[in-house]
Amino acid sequence: MITIDPNKLPEHVAIIMDGNGRWAKKRSINRVRGHQQGAETVREIVRTSREMGLSWLTLYAFSEENWKRPQREIGALMKLLKRFLKGELEEMQENGIRLQSIGRIEKLPEDTRKVLFDVMDQTASNKDMVLTLALSYGGRQEILDATRKIGAEIEKGNISADEISEQLISNSLYSEEMPDPELLIRTSGEYRVSNFLLWQIAYTEIYITPTLWPDFSKDEYLEAIQDFQKRKRRFGGTKEE
Ligand code: FPP
Repeated sequence: MITIDPNKLPEHVAIIMDGNGRWAKKRSINRVRGHQQGAETVREIVRTSREMGLSWLTLYAFSEENWKRPQREIGALMKLLKRFLKGELEEMQENGIRLQSIGRIEKLPEDTRKVLFDVMDQTASNKDMVLTLALSYGGRQEILDATRKIGAEIEKGNISADEISEQLISNSLYSEEMPDPELLIRTSGEYRVSNFLLWQIAYTEIYITPTLWPDFSKDEYLEAIQDFQKRKRRFGGTKEE
C-alpha cells in the first residue's frame, strides 16, 4: 500500500518522459505506437496529479533537439499532441486545470499552435492545478532568451546591470510565475537532465526509474512521491528546511 502524506506534497513535479521508442522496439512495432501509448500515460499521470492535489505539473513533451528526428515522427508527435489537447479539454475544465506551455512555441506548426493557444485560452482562469507542457523547449535556450530580454531592458535604460538578480532571471524565464520543481522524475533509466529546466532544478530532488514511459503507472508515480517525502532536504545548509 502506497501512502502519501498530503501535507508534504511537492508543490511542483517535473517529468522527463523517456522511453517511448524503446517500448515500441521491444514489441517490434513502430515508434509512433510507443508515443501513442506514452500519451495514454500522460493522461493517467495528469489525472493522478490532480487527484493528489498537486499544484504544478510540468512535462517535457518535445525538446529543441527533437526537431532533428525524422519528419514523419515529428508529424506524428504533433498530431498526437493536438489529439491529446482536444481530448483532454473537457476534463481540464471539470478539474480546474490550467494549461500553459514553455519553449519556442513559435516553431510549432501553425495548426498545432492554434489548438494549443485555444486550450490555453479556454483554461486560463482555472485555479486548481497548472499543467505546463514544455514544447520545442531547451533549458539553455530558455536562459539565452531570458538573457536577451534582460539585455533589451538594459538597452532601453529601464534597469542597470547591477540590478540583475536571481529573482529577475527567474522572472524572465518562459513562465514567470512557475515555482522551481521540488521533484524531477525521469523514466527509462538514463542519468541525464537533457537540457530540461536547467536554471530551475538547482535544488530539485531527482528520481530516476528504469521503467519506460508507456509503462510508468499510477502506483510508480505514487512511489516516486513517497520516496520524495522520505528525503531530507538541506539546500546546502545543515538541517531540513
Ligand atoms: C521520449 O521517447 C519521448 C518524447 C520524444 C516526448 C514525449 C512524448 C509523449 C509522451 C507523447 C505525447 C505527448 C503528449 C503531451 C500527448 P523517445 O522516443 O525518446 O524514446 P527512446 O529514447 O526510447 O527512443
